Amino acid sequence: MDWGITNRLARIIRPETGRTVMLAVDHGYFLGPIHRLERPAETILPLLPHADALMLTRGVLRACIPPEVDKPMVLRVSGGVSVVGPALSDEGLTVAMEDAVRLNASAVAISIFVGTDHERQSLLGLTDLVDTGNAIGMPVLAVTAVGKELAKRDARYLSLSCRIAAELGAHFVKTYYCEGFEKVTSSCPVPCVIAGGPKLETEMDAFRMTRDALEQGAVGVDMGRNIWQHDHALAMIQAVRAIVHAKATIAEAKDIFDGIAGRGRATKARARKR
Ligand code: R5P
Repeated sequence: MDWGITNRLARIIRPETGRTVMLAVDHGYFLGPIHRLERPAETILPLLPHADALMLTRGVLRACIPPEVDKPMVLRVSGGVSVVGPALSDEGLTVAMEDAVRLNASAVAISIFVGTDHERQSLLGLTDLVDTGNAIGMPVLAVTAVGKELAKRDARYLSLSCRIAAELGAHFVKTYYCEGFEKVTSSCPVPCVIAGGPKLETEMDAFRMTRDALEQGAVGVDMGRNIWQHDHALAMIQAVRAIVHAKATIAEAKDIFDGIAGRGRATKARARKR
């Protein structure tokens, strides 16, 4: 890989551990003001010190993130559809590479929709982006989207999508965790990060998913709702971070979470005495 692409990727996937905690806050590009991202800056800025990179749209980047922030930005550059429109898979490119460079992005992200009516258009969008990314030194993250068809989140479909993304030149891939996830990572020759998906019932579920994904070959997370839709978002991101970078067990992650969320044993004992 060219020096520029390698250098930008190394800002996202931390060389010290070979892992990353990306904070995904791009949901508004098709969901509008999703719960707890209604005022993006209020949600994002307190979490930012604990993330290795931020995944977001250029609108939120320009409007809500101070330009002095020293974090790599992964810019979503696909969209053009909405959750109330006819087809979530009918995305196109929404940002010119020139604007991504102007914003000093560290990578650009595009969704691909394998197996849908818009498969070809999304895959050719990926290859166009890889061509302009390679020409300019910009890594491309392919997101293996499933739209509303959550049933597609199995190892057979996700390994097909991730492998196609890598074959077409994506520099790294974002996908979902699933049963048999090792099949997905072992057949994908570029690094994989996992999305968190819809908010899980408990924080332990999110910790378990993170640990299992890492054990089965993911290089990290690009997590959104399971962090910022939680009542204790700051505790969530720090506990997930400990699993990713410090190899914390899920029990240790829970202790970190409880301590920061004020749910620790000492805090509970103090509360009982009052
Ligand atoms: C889709 O809306 C976006 O690409 C998100 O960045 C992605 O789904 C990750 O966020 P979450 O962890 O909330 O699924």
